Amino acid sequence: MASPVPLSKFIEQCRLQVDNALSTVLPDDSQVSPLLLEAMGYSVFNGGKRVRPTLVYAACQAFGGDLKQANPAACAVELIHAYSLVHDDLPAMDDDDLRRGKPTCHKAYDEATAILAGDTLQSLAFEVLGNARLCPESTLADSVRLQLVTILSQASGLAGMAGGQAMDQCAAGTVLNQQQLELMHTHKTGALIRASVRMGAICAGLLQAEELQSLDHYARAIGLAFQVRDDILDVIADTQTLGKLQGADMALGKPTYVSLMGLEAAQAYARDLHNNAISALSGFDHGADFLRQIADYIILRSY
Ligand code: IPE
Ligand code: IPE
Ligand code: MG
Ligand code: MG
Ligand code: MG
Repeated sequence: MASPVPLSKFIEQCRLQVDNALSTVLPDDSQVSPLLLEAMGYSVFNGGKRVRPTLVYAACQAFGGDLKQANPAACAVELIHAYSLVHDDLPAMDDDDLRRGKPTCHKAYDEATAILAGDTLQSLAFEVLGNARLCPESTLADSVRLQLVTILSQASGLAGMAGGQAMDQCAAGTVLNQQQLELMHTHKTGALIRASVRMGAICAGLLQAEELQSLDHYARAIGLAFQVRDDILDVIADTQTLGKLQGADMALGKPTYVSLMGLEAAQAYARDLHNNAISALSGFDHGADFLRQIADYIILRSY
């Protein structure tokens, strides 16, 4: 039986759930720096698609979990993602002026505030996982919280997003081969997507190594496909739909799947990755249908 709720409705439910949780997690006021708090809010509540929280909830649901248990993980990964975008847009990195259809954080505020907003969003992500008072509806055991901290810190750091971003910075103006490009993309983007799926399953209490491994194969494939599609959209979409400047990769000489293999081969590669992701879920029942549909969405999305 196919899932009775369409993916679009599930995504909307996830967006509402994570946004409600995030609005209680961000402090209401700050005596230390109201400006910094405002910049944090600006960077979180500015229209992101919430793909990573949706994956957390979809993986939790696939294993029969109670979605509210996954709120800390959903908030934490979105906070890390928001921080990564604020820093990604800085003049020292991609130097972008537009994000989610609005001025980037350093344009709306200033560079120092944007750097600090990234820093504080990152700290808050780990505080959400560690401090049970921030999402009181979730009653995860401390041992589970510790696992989540470990997964998310690895996925954010040198062996994950930040390491991939460092590769990306060094790669501008150079040509990478497919293996190097894959290493870069699986780190800068894939790592947080993998962590999202794993954290969602762990919040549902999934412990079986075999199932976690199949799930990880799925997550690796969609994590890479997500960035392949991002590279494709930089070429085929328009700035208004994207909410960020179209053609920015080419302007900076970034190696991408499109620059490496051309548009059609990149599209075919995204489809291959999608097929791998679906095959990895072959042992799972209909509970995993949203995970399957998210794989479709990732390679077909228009922004
Ligand atoms: C953009 O991520 C940056 C990449 C990792 C490719 P998203 O496409 O998920 O951005 P938002 O959160 O919806 O703005
Ligand atoms: C960003 O990749 C990945 C991050 C870790 C933020 P991109 O630089 O391609 O993301 P966009 O296109 O600016 O959203
Ligand atoms: Mg970048
Ligand atoms: Mg960028
Ligand atoms: Mg991009």
